[in-house]
Amino acid sequence: MPKVIAQGKTIECDSAANLRQILLQNGIDLYNSGAKLINCRGIGSCGTCAIFIEGEVSPANWRQEPHA
Ligand code: FES
Repeated sequence: MPKVIAQGKTIECDSAANLRQILLQNGIDLYNSGAKLINCRGIGSCGTCAIFIEGEVSPANWRQEPHA
């Protein structure tokens, strides 16, 4: 089971879960100021939820996975 560590929280999630949704559901603040209200809701066009990932990411084609 994947483990996500963000803002001092350790979150376990299902494999292939939507990372943005997992972070938001666990109270991780992804957005700065106005971006909290004005963002693309995970479509992938605004870039305001960009994060830095350390460690291995799989599957290698994760960018091709549909947004949920
Ligand atoms: S909310 Fe993530 S790219 Fe727009």
